Amino acid sequence: MGELGTGAGVGAGWMASAIPADCVLVTAEIDVPLARAARQLLAVDLRIEVIAGDAFRVMPSQAPFDLLFADSGVRDPARFAALVSWLRIGGRIVMDDITPERVLAPDSPLRADDLKRGFFTSEPRLVWTEVVLPDLHPGARAAIHPVRGVNSLHG
Ligand SMILES: C[S@@+](CC[C@H](N)C(=O)[O-])C[C@H]1O[C@@H](n2cnc3c(N)ncnc32)[C@H](O)[C@@H]1O
Repeated sequence: MGELGTGAGVGAGWMASAIPADCVLVTAEIDVPLARAARQLLAVDLRIEVIAGDAFRVMPSQAPFDLLFADSGVRDPARFAALVSWLRIGGRIVMDDITPERVLAPDSPLRADDLKRGFFTSEPRLVWTEVVLPDLHPGARAAIHPVRGVNSLHG
């Protein structure tokens, strides 16, 4: 599986705790010192490879993926399309940072123009589902951490 945006390696550590023994997790981080620190943190798990660099430059050579977690803040349809092209048939993309429509302010610009939601709900190669965490609090947008699962590439 692949992760875009390792950060400090916290998400990678959690994901590695759940993946099968024969699964490899490749995670890319553009901030070189951060990538170095995460690599040290995760060195105990030989299934995890931390690559320093722009995920859109370093990940294509690692494709195809069964599962991609896109957490680098990408908001560009061309890059969304690249993610889909890196998936194995039947693979999955997990995107986060999509605010559920039911908690958007009436005048939120995201109602008319949410690039990420728009792309993944209309991408013909994907079927998708949305997972909204139960602690979602409409008044605290900073606490909102919905996860968008895009499942089952089928064409
Ligand atoms: C939200 S943090 C990642 C958190 C991490 N996935 C976790 O769950 O702990 C986003 C990270 O993406 C990195 N990033 C931004 N653009 C990137 C790119 N093009 N390629 C790789 N990493 C990128 C940022 O430097 C930042 O560390």
